[in-house]
Amino acid sequence: MLRGKRILLIVSGSVAAYKALELARLLGKAGASVTGLLTPGGARFVTPHALQAITNRPLAQDLWSLEEEGEGRGHIALARGHDLVVVAPASADRLARMAAGLSDDLAGAALLATQAPVLVAPAMNWAMWAHPATVANAAILANRGVRFVGPEEGLMAEAESGTGRLAEPPAILAAIEAVLQNSFPDAANPELEAALDAAIAAGEGGEEDGAPVFPTGVGSAAAAAVAAVAAVAAPGPSPAALADTAMPDADEAGAEPAGDPLSLVGRHVLVTSGPTQEAIDPVRFLANRSSGRQGHAIAAALAALGARVTLVSGPVALADPPEVEVVRVESARDMLAACEAALPADAAVCAAAVADWRPAEVGTAKIKKREGAAPPSLTLMPNPDILATLSHHARRPGLVVGFAAETEAVVENAVSKLARKGCDWIVANDVSGDVMGGRENTVHLVSAAGVEDWPTLPKEAVAERLARRIAEALA
Ligand code: CTP
Repeated sequence: MLRGKRILLIVSGSVAAYKALELARLLGKAGASVTGLLTPGGARFVTPHALQAITNRPLAQDLWSLEEEGEGRGHIALARGHDLVVVAPASADRLARMAAGLSDDLAGAALLATQAPVLVAPAMNWAMWAHPATVANAAILANRGVRFVGPEEGLMAEAESGTGRLAEPPAILAAIEAVLQNSFPDAANPELEAALDAAIAAGEGGEEDGAPVFPTGVGSAAAAAVAAVAAVAAPGPSPAALADTAMPDADEAGAEPAGDPLSLVGRHVLVTSGPTQEAIDPVRFLANRSSGRQGHAIAAALAALGARVTLVSGPVALADPPEVEVVRVESARDMLAACEAALPADAAVCAAAVADWRPAEVGTAKIKKREGAAPPSLTLMPNPDILATLSHHARRPGLVVGFAAETEAVVENAVSKLARKGCDWIVANDVSGDVMGGRENTVHLVSAAGVEDWPTLPKEAVAERLARRIAEALA
């Protein structure tokens, strides 16, 4: 899909600039032709040589260079000669320059002159992203049609956690494809919405009178978002600080769930993950290709928001997520028993690939193959459905989330599965690619309220998004 597409990649000053090299590599691999444009700040983090070598094309860097201008890399040529402009990473300063329409450097001039769509991937410290000035700049740009991917929540260079990390290169690549295919969610950009929410949650004090001034043309939703940030009087704790202070006491009598919509402090969430193994005899079993990556990432993301998490996992080759109670099981029946033992819970996320059937009879000794004899035949019987059982349980968790692994008619099948299982949300999972065991996932969140299409994201990013949605739903 990217074959032959011409992309201008503007790299601005952020410690995450090294990831732009990986993005350039992925774009090149997908067949796109990439021109690198390094801002003065960007050049402090990656060298012109690295960006030029990886894009395999002459780099653009200097607005005043006669040489670059003469060789067709002046700002107008750059602006006209590309199908898409990507700013990754986009620093706080670059967003401010873009919002103000400054053109005193090559990136600014090209961005002003271009008619191509513009996608930005912000990266900065969480406090800079949460600052009302940055939120206002992001809102202004979003209103002008600039698309945003990220920033993500997680650990930053300064060993602090929060929202501000550059989206991972595969997620930026997916966003680039979506913009070029006109399938980028324009009206409701979930990345920006979540980021603005996070900024509001963590934001610090704003303008003196709490009423920032908006340039003409900024819509009321953006204005409301910025006003909400400005209205937060005191500096808020970082998500990391929230989790740190609240985790150990979450179970104590009287511990109140925090009011912060991004906090799961005081909540208990049950997660199933991995495959199940259904014994045929003492040495053989039926299983599936589930790696457990998605379920484990969900458990980790929920714990990072302060939840007490019980992770009931089939056999996987993954490390236990930090701050999570892990119960290891093999069969579907063991998994169900462990889930019921973990109740009550505020929410349950059934991400396990539970075997639908098990051998009706389990050999007590290894089944031997006999010379000339026909192979044994297996009779299967249905396993209990854990998701459906939890959804109809006397101690039903308040929110029950299931997954639907589909290779075709993904959303239609998920909608009927939602009704059949009796759960509240289905994360419909397109497994037609190499999702089982892979590192990325393309999902749709299906609920009674409708269907949300999420872009292809690393499984960790899907998990963080889902955890945030659960926190909001339980708030
Ligand atoms: N599930 C479960 N217990 C089972 C089978 C499935 O808890 N015995 C859960 C899974 O964890 C997942 C959802 O149910 O959340 C998937 O439902 P399922 O009916 O198994 O759908 P698919 O795996 O998508 O398979 P199919 O389309 O064949 O129904």
